Amino acid sequence: ALMASKNLLLLAGDGIGPEAMAEVKKLIAAMNDKLGSDFVTDEGLVGGCAYDAHGAAISDADMAKAMAADAVLFGAVGGPKWDAVPYEVRPEAGLLRLRKDMELFANLRPAICYPALAASSSLKQEVVEGLDILIVRELTGGVYFGEPKQIVDLGNGQKRGIDTQVYDTFEIERISGVAFELARTRKNHVTSMEKRNVMKSGVLWNEVVTQTHKARYADVKLDHMLADAGGMQLVRWPKQFDVIVTDNLFGDMLSDIAAMLTGSIGMLPSASLGAPDAKTKKRKALYEPVHGSAPDISGKGIANPIAMIASFAMCLRYSFGMVAEADKLEAAIAAVLDDGLRTKDILSEGMTEVGTVQMGDAIIAKFLG
Ligand code: NAI
Ligand code: MG
Repeated sequence: ALMASKNLLLLAGDGIGPEAMAEVKKLIAAMNDKLGSDFVTDEGLVGGCAYDAHGAAISDADMAKAMAADAVLFGAVGGPKWDAVPYEVRPEAGLLRLRKDMELFANLRPAICYPALAASSSLKQEVVEGLDILIVRELTGGVYFGEPKQIVDLGNGQKRGIDTQVYDTFEIERISGVAFELARTRKNHVTSMEKRNVMKSGVLWNEVVTQTHKARYADVKLDHMLADAGGMQLVRWPKQFDVIVTDNLFGDMLSDIAAMLTGSIGMLPSASLGAPDAKTKKRKALYEPVHGSAPDISGKGIANPIAMIASFAMCLRYSFGMVAEADKLEAAIAAVLDDGLRTKDILSEGMTEVGTVQMGDAIIAKFLG
């Protein structure tokens, strides 16, 4: 491949992963063909299919490809076929290894409300209409990884379960840096969420975000909110937010809450970013839909490809600076929904039901047209 070309590794995975990825492959081919884009794609195995092929959820060779790529597009992994495989090689281990080796510490979860779907939200239409927020969750630290992490037998018929919330200055600095930088490309507003009222890690979080803001990002509006109050505000009036930055645990919950403001899991994209390379300034990055492999519908051609396509839009925006193309792709998704096309998961009365391929084709046609 030429030095200047954009190298993508496609890891479609299991279940509906390959079905959704096929639509993105068509889109990439169309961009190369019709728009003169210079994407070069390579493919690898991850998850159950990788386990079947070589007994590991991702091979060292595919891992090396992921490390060398400009960006990784990931489908979904897992399924009942692999429920009994050993814990270390279970399908999810492939994703965990990618996150760990690529040091993907920043998880980006947008919550966007497409106008055509606003009426089907569980919240009132005026609360979600036009919603466009971004949750930046710290992904490699905090209580999911802190030590000690164990169950201790106290010997008196009681056991003690221990998890430890740990954050160091550099971890808070780098995640808040990502949030401030992204805010500058949006509405220039960051809300940091922690629980400094009851957690020492929350006190430090608040301090370091405040210092990082003062030192490098004073042009961005910064608010602090307790994470539980933040949960309430997300449901009460989510449009008050632009970028929310929070830790691993709170981010896990708050991003799932935000996701449901806007409808089906088949619509939700995500990105995970690492630190910028010292020389090239490029961040390692992996883009994936929020949904899993959906074994209940896989092979039927009815999976919604929008989450995967919207993940590729994030890739264009964050890995390649192709902001106009990303905007155009998101507009194409909105336009196809405006036209009434719906996969089964988002179907409502009076709309036109389409399958995975038709939905992909329609979005690509709008995007090129
Ligand atoms: P899931 O997200 O695969 O499915 C949940 C429900 O949403 C199902 O009814 C499914 O049909 C539906 N759904 C999901 N994506 C859809 C789409 N694009 N279009 C239409 N409907 C869609 O979660 P579930 O059922 O809990 O897990 C299934 C498998 O996926 C498990 O093996 C699980 O471990 C794995 N998984 C993998 C993830 C990943 O690869 N990152 C994330 C979550 C689960
Ligand atoms: Mg979750």
